[in-house]
Amino acid sequence: MKNCSQKTVKEKKVFIQTYGCQMNEYDTDKMFEVLRHENYFHTDTQEDADLIILNTCSIREKAENKVYSELGRLRYLKTANPELKIGVGGCVAQQEGETILQRNSNVDFVFGTDNLFELPFMLRKIHKGEKITKTKRYDRQKVRNFVPEYTFQNLKHSGVRAHLTITKGCNNYCSFCVVPVTRGLEVSREPDQIIAEAERLVSTGTREICLLGQNVNSYKANGVDFVELLQRMDELDGLQRLRFTSPHPKDFHEKLAEAIASLPSLCEQLHLPLQSGSDRILHRMRRWYTIETYYQKVAMLRELLPDVSLSTDIIVGFPGETDEEFEMTIEAIRKIRFDLIYSFKYSPRPGTRAADYPGHLSESVKSKRLKILLETQGKIVREKFQAFVGTEHEVLIEGNHHRKADSVTGRTRGNHPVSIKNSAKQAGELISVVITKANQNSLEAVPSSEI
Ligand code: 5AD
Ligand code: SF4
Repeated sequence: MKNCSQKTVKEKKVFIQTYGCQMNEYDTDKMFEVLRHENYFHTDTQEDADLIILNTCSIREKAENKVYSELGRLRYLKTANPELKIGVGGCVAQQEGETILQRNSNVDFVFGTDNLFELPFMLRKIHKGEKITKTKRYDRQKVRNFVPEYTFQNLKHSGVRAHLTITKGCNNYCSFCVVPVTRGLEVSREPDQIIAEAERLVSTGTREICLLGQNVNSYKANGVDFVELLQRMDELDGLQRLRFTSPHPKDFHEKLAEAIASLPSLCEQLHLPLQSGSDRILHRMRRWYTIETYYQKVAMLRELLPDVSLSTDIIVGFPGETDEEFEMTIEAIRKIRFDLIYSFKYSPRPGTRAADYPGHLSESVKSKRLKILLETQGKIVREKFQAFVGTEHEVLIEGNHHRKADSVTGRTRGNHPVSIKNSAKQAGELISVVITKANQNSLEAVPSSEI
């Protein structure tokens, strides 16, 4: 609670640029909450800001490079306004630490993935003219409430859809992945705290929650496992939809498939990162499943839910990947027919095992393989979207269409984006629709009541 004397303090404005994954988006929301208590309010314009924070991602080199070019661009703002403070947080900050300050004289502070709740302390230091780096890790425990309660207890309004981080870090050390370096070992939040945050979100407008974790299905805290947490979430009054991302295929079991099939709020949708269709590459990636066991898990889920929506991550051009091994990935994609694929060219990351593997492939081979993958998947999605025409779906409305005045937008339970014509429904409401048209990346529909 703010006291009266704090009310007289001048309000300042903060601009936060977020790169990377949903976990970073969640962290950005938390930064805004922490900073609100320091009298900083959100601005969408860098030129208006007293404070600019880049919340960075280092999962691939391209993401990391964006941060450095943005820091270069921000130089002119600092020249125009020497009072402007610039901070770098997130995964690049965790990895590079002090070096960022040494190489970029515009930057005032650098903070790691465990340090965002120390922002008030850092701001006091930099306003005294100090430069500061805070990248110390605190977590040795497997269970810890790493999100302070004030960041959600005081929420006033939340979006129709919200993220909720339940674990951070990862113990898997996939050979390509920098996350265990940047986010540390896995820590789970206590179930009661997660439920308390979810209740607050629902009471302030949220209708759909996506639980986040690097390996979300290995969640375990106070004797509660992931499926038990889903069961508790499902009992929340007012929560229409529940999702989670990302589970690891090695930890995907029947109990979780049954939960997706039976818990009313849990959507019939699964993001299950495959990465490659070749057993040799999967082994070198340290993924600990084979393509056969992956097929079996998909079959088990489809047995329970034939229309389940499936998405995945694929890496092309992993070190040593042959043409035949890449072809196995294409074959897997043709067999499984995912609804959505996030595909990436392999990018060597410092501190990961694969960076030192022999057989790194040229950019042109990686680009060629990515193109083939995109074309293969494009055809599958067109066919799948076409098959949606004439079918009925429940859509959660998110708001007005940004271009079409007579339409609203939302998503199906399968997570497909839909625009709906002639609906009087408001954001947060559910509506039954019939799909009338399939576009490349979205669907069009009309309310079922009009058919
Ligand atoms: N190169 C390319 N893609 C990567 N991913 C993670 N690390 C790398 C890397 N070094 C992809 C994986 C993961 C997704 C979040 O990002 O597919 O599932
Ligand atoms: Fe990275 Fe593998 Fe952990 Fe996912 S499971 S965050 S890919 S190390």
